[in-house]
Amino acid sequence: MTATRLVPSPVNTVTRFRDDVLSGLSRKQKWLPAKYFYDPLGSSLFDRITELDEYYPTRTELAIMQAHVSAMATRCGKNCLLVELGAGSLLKVRLLLDQLDRPAGFVPVDVSGEHLRASAKELTADYPDIPVYPVVADFCRSFEIPSIDADRRVVYFPGSTIGNFDPPDAARLMRSVARMVGPGGGLLLGVDLRKDPAVLERAYNDAEGVTACFNLNLLTRINRELGADFDPASFRHRAFYNRDLYRIEMHLVSSVDQSVNLSGRTFHFRADESIHTENSYKHDTGELTHRAEDWGFRVDQTWTDKAGYFAVIYLTAPDK
Ligand code: SAH
Ligand code: AVI
Repeated sequence: MTATRLVPSPVNTVTRFRDDVLSGLSRKQKWLPAKYFYDPLGSSLFDRITELDEYYPTRTELAIMQAHVSAMATRCGKNCLLVELGAGSLLKVRLLLDQLDRPAGFVPVDVSGEHLRASAKELTADYPDIPVYPVVADFCRSFEIPSIDADRRVVYFPGSTIGNFDPPDAARLMRSVARMVGPGGGLLLGVDLRKDPAVLERAYNDAEGVTACFNLNLLTRINRELGADFDPASFRHRAFYNRDLYRIEMHLVSSVDQSVNLSGRTFHFRADESIHTENSYKHDTGELTHRAEDWGFRVDQTWTDKAGYFAVIYLTAPDK
């Protein structure tokens, strides 16, 4: 089956990007949405992050998947339509696709179009019997899932990407997932867990500086796509664990007093003033069980690693 793009964006994405950047930089605490990290370079920098010694989440989640994938596939059942949100390089889902019983199809969804199309092409070549329908879309906005006959819809949301959303936004997204899968549908969710802050801070401050490049690439992208005049060399990466809010915060800190121009507007930065670019919430499995009910799901099973660093959870949207 050929990979097809199904969802044209209803609003010009450059216009939306410009509006988001202008409104984020106008706030008292300057802010840029983390989804804009993922241009082609950002997606490949993220892939490099996943291979760093310091960045434990990817290898830990992969090990949990490897150990329990057959139980996960059993939960998904036969002839399911699997939808992956924030699909990235489509590495983890291969474990699941190897085990699923005659899946009706696979729908990887990602905002990073070029990267998604390339990954989906490779996947289609490796899994010729599974129909793959890549969708380039922002999963926080409405998008169409191809209407494929299936016994059940299951959303796969790995990598703790849910942790990049503040709790009210995560709840909105998860409620839309519950509607998308319908009663009896499933959600296989990967979440990063609370742990020693030193381990967390190391994961976002790697020695090679790949995370710093990932963070700073956002300014380069804004320059290139929106015509701003950021000097990325005069900003530095900062990541720390906010213990009160259980989240890693990433910032870009201005080293000097400076002004930046974008679309006829000028934004002033004091030395040491930051742009907040990402939150990465760390979870507690007990608390998630309660939150899941509020989202319209119930927790069926939780798998974790020995150290309790990461969890993969199967949730069901109850039959009405
Ligand atoms: N699932 C992969 C990749 C995680 S990185 C893994 O577990 O390793 C987060 C991914 O989500 C990136 O590929 C990014 O492009 C995508 N993403 C982030 N915000 C998004 C949004 N709002 N809509 C669609 N995709 C998004
Ligand atoms: C995609 N997301 C879950 C990653 C995280 O850990 O929050 C993005 C990332 N940011 C810095 N390193 C990795």
